Amino acid sequence: MRPSEVRDRVLSDHRHLSERLDRIEGLARGVLDDREPLPSTLRSEAEALLDRLAIHMAWEDLHLVPILRAADSWGDVRTDRFAEEHREQRELLGYVLRQLHDLDRPEDVVAGNVLDLVALLRADIVAEESVFLDERVVRDDPVVIDLLSS
Ligand SMILES: [Fe+2]
Ligand SMILES: [Fe+2]
Repeated sequence: MRPSEVRDRVLSDHRHLSERLDRIEGLARGVLDDREPLPSTLRSEAEALLDRLAIHMAWEDLHLVPILRAADSWGDVRTDRFAEEHREQRELLGYVLRQLHDLDRPEDVVAGNVLDLVALLRADIVAEESVFLDERVVRDDPVVIDLLSS
């Protein structure tokens, strides 16, 4: 897969994840306003989001990280930083997942935590795109493509 294809795929994933974040934000606000939906819908939607995120991050680790490493002489610094971002995100996802599984936790607390998570994940997506998907870094450079295939 060429770097530009990996970049397009990650951006498309981010668009789908952002749509999910919008939907989940609406569900969490509904729970807080006592409108709807059933709190169980929020929990299951949030769990599905966390599953999708885990798959997305694993895909980035597999396909984007080698490109970030091969891009230039800052490759190792960049991939260390990327790994650190993913480590923090996985920690956060694990924490929220444990809360979702804790049925004793009040629904409005869960909804508030989900709203915080949505805000953080939106910021992470913006930051990841500006730092790690910059077209000057993720580019179809023959040297990079050669390094990736060797
Ligand atoms: Fe990521
Ligand atoms: Fe991402």
